[in-house]
Amino acid sequence: MFIHKNKRVLVGVTGGIAAYKSPELVRRLKDRGCDVRVVMSEGAKAFITPLTLQAVSGNKVHEELLDEEAELGMGHIELARWAEQIVIAPATANFIAKLAAGRADDLLSTLVLATSAEIAVAPAMNQQMWQHPSTAENLSLLQDRGVRVIGPGSGDQACGEVGPGRMTDPTEIATLLAGEALARPLVGKRVLITAGPTWEAMDPVRGITNHSSGKMGFALAEAALDCGAEVTLVSGPVHLETPAGATRIDVRSAQNMLEAVLENVNSADYFVAVAAVADYRPINVAEQKIKKTDESDEMTIRLVKNPDILATVGAMPNRPYCIGFAAETENQIAHARAKLTRKNVDIIAANNVAGDEGAFGSDQNAVTLIHHNGEIEIPTNDKYAVAISMWRHILKLANSA
Ligand code: CTP
Repeated sequence: MFIHKNKRVLVGVTGGIAAYKSPELVRRLKDRGCDVRVVMSEGAKAFITPLTLQAVSGNKVHEELLDEEAELGMGHIELARWAEQIVIAPATANFIAKLAAGRADDLLSTLVLATSAEIAVAPAMNQQMWQHPSTAENLSLLQDRGVRVIGPGSGDQACGEVGPGRMTDPTEIATLLAGEALARPLVGKRVLITAGPTWEAMDPVRGITNHSSGKMGFALAEAALDCGAEVTLVSGPVHLETPAGATRIDVRSAQNMLEAVLENVNSADYFVAVAAVADYRPINVAEQKIKKTDESDEMTIRLVKNPDILATVGAMPNRPYCIGFAAETENQIAHARAKLTRKNVDIIAANNVAGDEGAFGSDQNAVTLIHHNGEIEIPTNDKYAVAISMWRHILKLANSA
């Protein structure tokens, strides 16, 4: 599935200011030994010339759907068959809408319909356009059809606004398409990850839980697998598919999660605690469903503290390299740094879960890695891209420790 030497990659460039970054993407793909051809939309030519892309790709750039000369050589159907991977970067809001509607009114949209290649899009647009429900619906439709969406990142925009919509850095796109598979820095390493919420039962039908979707933990598992690790994923109740190759242990309560972790931690090189573990559980679990009474309008549930799984592992002699998460709604960095010391771990990844911008349930995240000698910002991106960057930094920090 990943790009590799000699892979035939077709780069589609559509009409946004981020098109100036497309030659860089072509170069990064060529660095990895790919055979690259470029297709430009009419709009793209307002931002960058075909000659530039011809020079970096080493191939004539394809522009027209009905081009007599091109049809004599590599026509649109041949091009669609030739490609093993299509990556559209930048993909404008308009082009994404076109793909979602299945239109074929220019060369690039026609190729996408006519190909069996894997397709990835790297959206780039104004932040309001990115946040418009039409764009979100179009992208979700494309994702359902198997199109991979890379980014966008967040930050200053060419239009002077600030927010999500910046095209992911070309090196990062090439790295993601390569799945870091070329380096596979975790080969021979064992990674143990907790993910999702816990469920603390009150009776057979009710319990205390939280909004954790498990997506960040599963993304870290998938990224670790792509980097060559052997992965054990201890997961609370979530609706997510197991990443191919991971050993998954499903648990419900914090106590179950602790038991599963203790059974697997001795062979682990890295322990990543992403689970949003309930800090307390009901003291008594009723065997039958608790019935309401007419005697009082109030009801009290007494809770007892749960074991702290991360701190338990942190206190072990010969413990693995430990990474925790801190889900904070305020004073993010200070609270996270306090957890680094209190739980005796190597890194705390702080993420903000306040308000609508929070990470819970979202496909995107941004974290700050707090370690004993400083902090590293990982900007907003899809959770898999954040997970890949996290592993890159974790390995650097672990190897210099
Ligand atoms: N954690 C854990 N076991 C617990 C509670 C938390 O392993 N019983 C781990 C989480 O997986 C996360 C980190 O500890 O990696 C931080 O969890 P968080 O709930 O944010 O912090 P707490 O230590 O519970 O502190 P507070 O609730 O005061 O924020």
